[in-house]
Amino acid sequence: MKTITIANQKGGVGKTTIAFHQAIHLAKNGKRVVMIDFDPQANSTRRFLGDVPENPEGLCASSMMVNDDENRKPIETKYGVDFICADQGLTHPSVSGMLPGDVINNIRESFKKIESDYDICIMDTGPSLGAIMVGAISISDFLLVPIQPESISIEGVAALLKTIKTVNPGLITKKGGVAFVLNKVKWFDQLHIEMMKQIKKAYGDLVLNEVLTDRVAINYAMNQYGKPVWDIGREYRSQSQVLASKEMQLLTTAIERRAA
Ligand SMILES: Nc1ncnc2c1ncn2[C@@H]1O[C@H](COP(=O)(O)OP(=O)(O)OP(=O)(O)O)[C@@H](O)[C@H]1O
Ligand SMILES: [Mg+2]
Repeated sequence: MKTITIANQKGGVGKTTIAFHQAIHLAKNGKRVVMIDFDPQANSTRRFLGDVPENPEGLCASSMMVNDDENRKPIETKYGVDFICADQGLTHPSVSGMLPGDVINNIRESFKKIESDYDICIMDTGPSLGAIMVGAISISDFLLVPIQPESISIEGVAALLKTIKTVNPGLITKKGGVAFVLNKVKWFDQLHIEMMKQIKKAYGDLVLNEVLTDRVAINYAMNQYGKPVWDIGREYRSQSQVLASKEMQLLTTAIERRAA
């Protein structure tokens, strides 16, 4: 099982949006996909399950952190993706305050129990560089970092790279182990264009050529219809939807290739 983590401690950069589309893209291509929501905000859980279950019967993210899953299984969803939901346990001090070494060991152990059932695991993470993020990075084969071309969005990237170097240095040395994707690009905004040039100059090959423009269709797909943007043509037919679908398809295909 390959593991792809979507991470950036900056909020609102598109981690959940990209994770949602990537997981569904892979499942549509016949891959056995499990997705884990490691973000206590539980936005991916709401997207995939409709709500955040109070007493979930399936396997939950906090159980993976403490490795007490009692052989529970991921929850099946209508998207063809099996799901391990974010739960209240993630915010409990006994979990959120765990030592990174313990988190890494526990997650490694709990992964062993599911890895033969799936080809790919996608992990969505929250906007914080804490023990949960460290655990997810430590077991990743591929790390995708969405960034908005705005200075405030890239301020944390150096700290994230430093964390990766510490907990999973192989990701950095392996060609293509880490990739940045520019999201919510505003092509008419000179500051965005300038910032994209700077990011490309600073991080070179780490930056994917595939980018996502800021398009209202993506917002509608995620927040109104709960479907990938390429599936909302009937409800929301517009140029924005057509162009956003094309960009999202190119991106998810590129990530699939890189993570293979
Ligand atoms: N390319 C885009 N164009 C327009 N809206 C977008 C785009 N990408 C994401 N969004 C919207 O931006 C908002 C934030 O995106 P998302 O929730 O994916 O970010 P996040 O990084 O997961 O945030 P958090 O750190 O809070 O988990 C959402 O409402 C989403 O629909
Ligand atoms: Mg999110």
